[in-house]
Amino acid sequence: MDGHLNVKPSDVISEIDERVYGSFIEQLGRAVYTGVYQPNHPTADEDGFRKDVIEAVKKLNVPLIRYPGGNFLSQYRWEDGIGPKSERPTRLDIAWREIETNEFGLHEFMKWSKKVNAVPNMAVNLGTRGIEAAADLLEYCNFPKGTYLSDLRIKNGAEKPFAIKTWCLGNEMDGPWEIGMKDAEEYAKLANETAKAMKRVDDSIELVACGSSSMDNPTFGDWEETVLDHCYENIDYLSLHRYYGFYNDDDPTELDNLLGKNVDLDQFIKGVVAMCDAVKSKKKSKKTINLSFDEWNVWYHSNDADTKVEPWQVGPHLLEDVYNFEDALLVGSLLITLLKNSDRVKIACLAQLVNVIAPIMTDENGGVWLQSIFYPFMQVSKYGRGKALVPHVQTETYKSREFDNVAYLDTIATYNDQDKTVTIFAENKNQDETLNFSIDLDDLIIDEIIEATQFSGYDPKQDNKDGRMQIEKLTAVSNSDTKVNAKLNPLSWNMLRIK
Ligand code: AHR
Repeated sequence: MDGHLNVKPSDVISEIDERVYGSFIEQLGRAVYTGVYQPNHPTADEDGFRKDVIEAVKKLNVPLIRYPGGNFLSQYRWEDGIGPKSERPTRLDIAWREIETNEFGLHEFMKWSKKVNAVPNMAVNLGTRGIEAAADLLEYCNFPKGTYLSDLRIKNGAEKPFAIKTWCLGNEMDGPWEIGMKDAEEYAKLANETAKAMKRVDDSIELVACGSSSMDNPTFGDWEETVLDHCYENIDYLSLHRYYGFYNDDDPTELDNLLGKNVDLDQFIKGVVAMCDAVKSKKKSKKTINLSFDEWNVWYHSNDADTKVEPWQVGPHLLEDVYNFEDALLVGSLLITLLKNSDRVKIACLAQLVNVIAPIMTDENGGVWLQSIFYPFMQVSKYGRGKALVPHVQTETYKSREFDNVAYLDTIATYNDQDKTVTIFAENKNQDETLNFSIDLDDLIIDEIIEATQFSGYDPKQDNKDGRMQIEKLTAVSNSDTKVNAKLNPLSWNMLRIK
């Protein structure tokens, strides 16, 4: 099978906002306790953070991390997580039915995120709380000094303001599972009033309002319209959340369907962009609302196990999906889709980062292991910087259970102005055939192929618990002055870096 990509460095979708490679740490399961934070672990540093986890996170080059939730957020009192640890209350986390010791809170998260070179994407509770708690938290974090809350921050060890720029106004407030769920009108009014108050405390911040928690929610569309209608001038981004699952493991055609979920993601994004722009036009506003895709991933493997977990534990084994090779292919394809929409998707968070539906897993009595999905994410996050180029692609397509036109060749190129490199990410979704991939770089003269790699050759159901998976060299590559040819294995994720 043949597939062709034509790009040129001047034909640009957008500058890529690096925050599109964000991730997420929720106070849930073992994300924090025995994940990020484990003072009795042999690699623990002076703050109780696992250094093996810090090293693994740094490899992902995640520039932004959302915190503290998720569903956890909608019942959280942020004040519980500050001050001397011995005085912090132990509470019920009624979102996940866990015990929360609050040993890890705001200051710990700020310190940890700095150690992994990320900035926070902080969230305020609009489930059980509201305007006052949100404005207080912002004052505590960002006001320099001289008020009760800013001085309390200083007393608690942070002389300098945290200067947190990006804030989420609640989490999934349309979801029936959420503590303090609201209808669209209720949420929209509360979000708008909270946004106004927060921008009075600090007008340099950016705010993300909740879009629908899923495109499948019955209120999808109406929710977006109502929220945008009320909040348009006071928010900066609207959020999207989407998780994918593989529901019939016995039917091989379901793999074709799973690998076509990028079509769904693309439709979702384009639909929400259209809603934002419709409200812009209705309001005759000069402002454009962009998107924060603040939760996305594959999530289904742990569903059964999670129903058997005993409630009221500290750091239970919840949402510990073990990802396989096909999940990694889907994650690669979803990343390509985010880049194809990088003109409007400015923030995105792989949900989540450690132990909970995560690329990085820990053993509380041992080390760290990396999931299959770690590899495509690491490559795109590291090399997919600069500009996303318009991909002119010729490829055969297939029809699956849900999707009519899935491209066998899924590909995008990015151009880094600084080192003048073009990076091409390309996936062959064909289960049986090698893809003869030809790339035309138009007027760009090729000096060298810096690197060509492939992630392939694994059974779709294979996971990486044994650490066997690795990125390998792609050898079947040749080039002329402006053209490259490569052979992409069936079911493969590939990257080519060209100068
Ligand atoms: O990421 C896991 C959960 O998924 C989050 O807590 C919630 O926001 C979503 O439903």
